[in-house]
Amino acid sequence: MSRKKLEEIAKINRQHAEDGTIELTQKIVEVPAKYYYDQDRWNSEIERVFKRLPLVLGISSELKKPGDYKALEVVGMPVIINRNSEGKLNAFLNICRHRGSSLVENGHGNSSHFRCPYHGWAYSDDGELIGISDNENFGDLDKECNGLIKLPIEERAGIIWVNLDHKTELSMDSFLSGYDEMLAHFKFEDWYIFDTRTLKGPNWKVAYDGYLDLYHLPVLHSETFGTEISNKAMFYAWGPHQRVISPSRLSSQDDFDGEGIDYSELPIKEVPTAVLMTGVWTIFPHVSIASFNGGGRSVLLSQLLPGASPEESYTVQYYLMEKEPNQQQRKEAKEQFDFLKYVVKEEDYATGLKLQKGLKTGKLESVLFGRNESGGQAFHEWVDKIINTKNKDLSKLF
Ligand code: FES
Ligand SMILES: [Fe+2]
Repeated sequence: MSRKKLEEIAKINRQHAEDGTIELTQKIVEVPAKYYYDQDRWNSEIERVFKRLPLVLGISSELKKPGDYKALEVVGMPVIINRNSEGKLNAFLNICRHRGSSLVENGHGNSSHFRCPYHGWAYSDDGELIGISDNENFGDLDKECNGLIKLPIEERAGIIWVNLDHKTELSMDSFLSGYDEMLAHFKFEDWYIFDTRTLKGPNWKVAYDGYLDLYHLPVLHSETFGTEISNKAMFYAWGPHQRVISPSRLSSQDDFDGEGIDYSELPIKEVPTAVLMTGVWTIFPHVSIASFNGGGRSVLLSQLLPGASPEESYTVQYYLMEKEPNQQQRKEAKEQFDFLKYVVKEEDYATGLKLQKGLKTGKLESVLFGRNESGGQAFHEWVDKIINTKNKDLSKLF
């Protein structure tokens, strides 16, 4: 079913490539410049977007074995994700029910249970309170009511989503709007994590705009990607999630196996699914997945998170490879991953920081998203819509 959707997209793209066109929106959209630096606006984004929607907090292959866990802080919330002895994923707040200490340090580990480092209370891998130190003297306490606070978690398409709102009524199906079926074509559950790193960046929306923006490619990245690269983009949406891709006839450049097959004359039905998955897949509100071919079929999965203030964000970059690389491929993958660090840090985020400085002067009323930038237009509309929606109506939005 979703393979059919991929074929439809490829067909539309091929036609646009032949005609030298793209789809345009009705009008240029203005976004208040203040939205990029205003503290109140930023607080609403944290509270109403990041703390109410499912967020991508990991990928399945990070937590393969029973007992594997990952602890991290997301918009000030300490979270543990673990795989229990039956292979099921859980997410909890990393906060002890006794007096609030965190249970484990941020990072990865493996454990069948969690023991608080302060007074030694113990929790099972499902978050149940299983041990109170010196229980006789502590007093009677209903253990069943004092487990760790569980967060809704879903593992789909090899990606892990967690909602920081433990009382949410928003269903994952409506939020994903069928996008997970598309992402499932990557089969990330079997992919290999080559490397990860964290980069500091500007305001999260300044950074995120860049992931939806092909318009800047031949200019800002002229020294790295080259000037020949297309600045034209087609945007395909599933709810708030968008795929960004240049219209293309599909060519040998899209071939991951390096066999040099030219797909441009091939009926789309015969084009391998991997070739139909190229371009950038963004997951609202904070993830981008871009295909590369460094050391074999690979993606750069960028997980963008707001930092401590409107002017800071950080990005966890995962370099994922379809197959575990051999020595030569490892070398190529490292080169590609280093190159992407340079591009993102020295070109995209360095520009973002300058842009942010300009906006903060308050001299610009608004910034502009052209008719060719429908991805950015839609992104800001969604942020606005979500901020202005009450809890009880959130499910109706998707
Ligand atoms: S704070 Fe965890 S046991 Fe006391
Ligand atoms: Fe860029």
